[in-house]
Amino acid sequence: MMSDSAPTVTGTWATRWTFILAASGSAIGLGNIWKFPFITGENGGGAFVLVYLICIAMVGIPIMMSEVLIGRHARHNPITAMGQLARESGASRLWGGIGWMGVLAGIMILSFYSVVAGWSLDYTVELFAGNFNGKTGEEVGKAFGEGLLQDVPKLTLWHTVFMALTALVVALGIHKGLENSVKLMMPALFILLIGMLIYSATQTGHFGEGFAYLFDFDFSKLSVDAVLAALGHSFFTLSLGMCAIMAYGAYMPKQASIGSTVITVAILDTAVALVAGLVIFPIVFANGMEPTQGPGLLFVSLTTAFAQIPGGQILGGVFFLLVSIAALSSSISLIEPSAAWMTERFNMGRATSVVILSVIVWIFGMGCLLSLNEWSGEEYQVFGMGMFDLFDFLTANIMLPLGGMFIAIFAGWIMKRSVVLNELALKSLVRFNLWRAMTRVISPLAVFIVFVVTLYQKFNGA
Ligand code: PHE
Repeated sequence: MMSDSAPTVTGTWATRWTFILAASGSAIGLGNIWKFPFITGENGGGAFVLVYLICIAMVGIPIMMSEVLIGRHARHNPITAMGQLARESGASRLWGGIGWMGVLAGIMILSFYSVVAGWSLDYTVELFAGNFNGKTGEEVGKAFGEGLLQDVPKLTLWHTVFMALTALVVALGIHKGLENSVKLMMPALFILLIGMLIYSATQTGHFGEGFAYLFDFDFSKLSVDAVLAALGHSFFTLSLGMCAIMAYGAYMPKQASIGSTVITVAILDTAVALVAGLVIFPIVFANGMEPTQGPGLLFVSLTTAFAQIPGGQILGGVFFLLVSIAALSSSISLIEPSAAWMTERFNMGRATSVVILSVIVWIFGMGCLLSLNEWSGEEYQVFGMGMFDLFDFLTANIMLPLGGMFIAIFAGWIMKRSVVLNELALKSLVRFNLWRAMTRVISPLAVFIVFVVTLYQKFNGA
């Protein structure tokens, strides 16, 4: 077993399943259940979903394999790992910068992630308490936008509670902390989602419409921004581009196959997102809600359904509890790389580094939280975005794809072919060559092209 405070990573997880659990725990979270449905709505549905699926397969999976192999080969925190492997490959130490950007991206993502997880905690309590029983869609919508989002003390309370929980779990060490609960909670969340899928399919009378919305590929609705959002989200949802999966890879056993493990995680993650979409959109259409309404979509649509169905009080409470736990198993992976690095680098206790990081995140989180109400005015905006939206945009759409691109270039071009071949241990040379073509050419090029086209369009005012 791994040890918590040792300056280098010494132990490994028991089996490949432990890695799959931890990586899925990181990948499956608010990104799948909260973000995927609302950005699908904002970007017009089907065509966006198709681009997202293509990005997962062609960019996400190869880059995830690269992260795992780098982490496992180096058996260090990401910053040390990148520096060490760069030296080993005779490349510049600047490659360590990828780890640095990862630390920064992790802090920025967690700032707004914790605020949203706080909403989920609040809804857990409100639903269990029966506060939404019998409410209409309109009332539920108001309670979110004009109620919760304006209630600074309440938002602060839940953001603080969530950060404290995250800090506690990370300070205790990942394997002890969450692994056991994740083993139960993730399948429970999935089963509950399937139950709600049955509800959406049989009770809303709008399943066909919801289904078509997600899977009708109408490319006329696809904008360049939507392509960037789909690419960015494929990184966000798989926890890629900021070295979170790399940090977990450091604990992966040598014998486990990286390829099949990574594909399993990607399939699980995608399944949860698609099911969440199939649950939400029929409810949205059945209640005459706007698919484009933004970050409130999950909370407003599902709570409306829970308000109407018998037993919705309990089911809804359980649902948001499970979402909060899924968020927690993701949030720990957002500070794990930084915590591991600080612990190793400054030889400080794990708890100390976790507390320092959590306080920083908490402060940024307060900025994100206030940007939704007190600081929503234009004078607080940069590029037309408040801090919450800005942090989301900068991380998911810029930093993660950029980080992922450099990770792919590193694994594809800088690391020695023999080292990578040995580490991946794929069953055939054909598969290895396929992975290599994707990592060397396709993934970096995809990110590069989307960036160039988006920037070109922005500067031409199109
Ligand atoms: N993948 C997580 C989710 O979908 C978010 C996350 C992003 C976690 C990046 C770690 C790193 O909710």
